[in-house]
Amino acid sequence: MPVNVAVYGLGPIGSLIAKKVLEREDLNLVAAFDIAPEKVGKDLGEVLQWDKKVGVLVEHDINSETVLKNNNVDIVLHSTSTYLDKIYPQLVRCIKSTADIISTSETLCNPWYRYPEMATLIDELAKKYCVTVLGTGVNPGFIFDTLPATLTACCTKVEKIHAIRSLDASKRRFSFQKKYGLSLSVNEFNELLNRGQITAHVGYAESIDMLATALGIKLDRIVEGQEPLVAERPLKTDYFNISVGQVSGIHGYGIGYLNGKEFIKIELFAEVGREEFEEIRIEGEPPIAWRSCGTAGDIATAAMVINMIPKVLSSKPGLIRMLDIPFPSAFIKLKIG
Ligand SMILES: NC(=O)c1ccc[n+]([C@@H]2O[C@H](COP(=O)([O-])OP(=O)(O)OC[C@H]3O[C@@H](n4cnc5c(N)ncnc54)[C@H](OP(=O)(O)O)[C@@H]3O)[C@@H](O)[C@H]2O)c1
Repeated sequence: MPVNVAVYGLGPIGSLIAKKVLEREDLNLVAAFDIAPEKVGKDLGEVLQWDKKVGVLVEHDINSETVLKNNNVDIVLHSTSTYLDKIYPQLVRCIKSTADIISTSETLCNPWYRYPEMATLIDELAKKYCVTVLGTGVNPGFIFDTLPATLTACCTKVEKIHAIRSLDASKRRFSFQKKYGLSLSVNEFNELLNRGQITAHVGYAESIDMLATALGIKLDRIVEGQEPLVAERPLKTDYFNISVGQVSGIHGYGIGYLNGKEFIKIELFAEVGREEFEEIRIEGEPPIAWRSCGTAGDIATAAMVINMIPKVLSSKPGLIRMLDIPFPSAFIKLKIG
């Protein structure tokens, strides 16, 4: 039987998730939600800018609990916002409909780090309604946490983990380039970042804390920060013209200390024109050096969300993290249990 799926949030990521779900025969897209007046009430095909109808009307999110129940939705693929306090009412409506949830919310990937009380509330509610809730994506969710944790499986000793992600910001969607402050002055960038009006990457600490938990260690402390990188020559993306001295990207980092020493370090370079790669170095026995030629973040996020469907459907009820998922992988054909 195909699984009944809803998509919640139809920005670039939610729309990509919807398109990929619609390509599959083992997933049945039966409901879609957004709040934007130009999307609500329209056929999903129109919102996805297809020339054919899908037969699913986009509903306003205040109606989600009823619509999810009426359509027997098994699982909601949620991608509206980053911060848990903002998405909390949306999650509650989905949980009360008794649908499982997979969300791209960065802070939901490891909500006990930044929002311990809200995490407990969600966990209790999910158990009460017998549903599972997971936050995931390419990062957080994979590159700075699940992937390095998996690489340590062949080490008898782990003395330090250093993960670097380097990506070309010009290849990413408008909302990504905007939240990374492209074309702002350095002062504007710092002001907007401090006021929370742009975020750049969120999740350094969530990833480090989750990785440390997987390794069974308690870090002394975690620090995280981000600084702007500035253009040394004029740059152009599909959405921004960047003059010399304006923000062309960011360098962000998180460091987890153990016994006063750096034990986990993660670094993100997201800048227009940057070479794309990920590199993970593990000092230990044996030492590990792993390198990729980059991971296309938007499609990888859609993949993470969809690929975790069978894992979440067969997980125990409650709020779970990627470290609770056994052997994450793609699925070619849906098989639950
Ligand atoms: N973990 C990861 O690796 C990862 C990767 C990629 C993205 N993300 C996160 O995933 C989220 C989605 O990304 P995006 O680029 O698509 O963001 P976006 O451009 O902000 O799109 C979000 C969409 O959700 C809609 N929305 C907002 N509040 C809603 C609500 N209460 N109910 C229903 N829909 C609502 C928005 O409508 P309006 O436009 O009207 O506000 C918009 O259409 C972001 O928080 C992003 O940071 C995480």
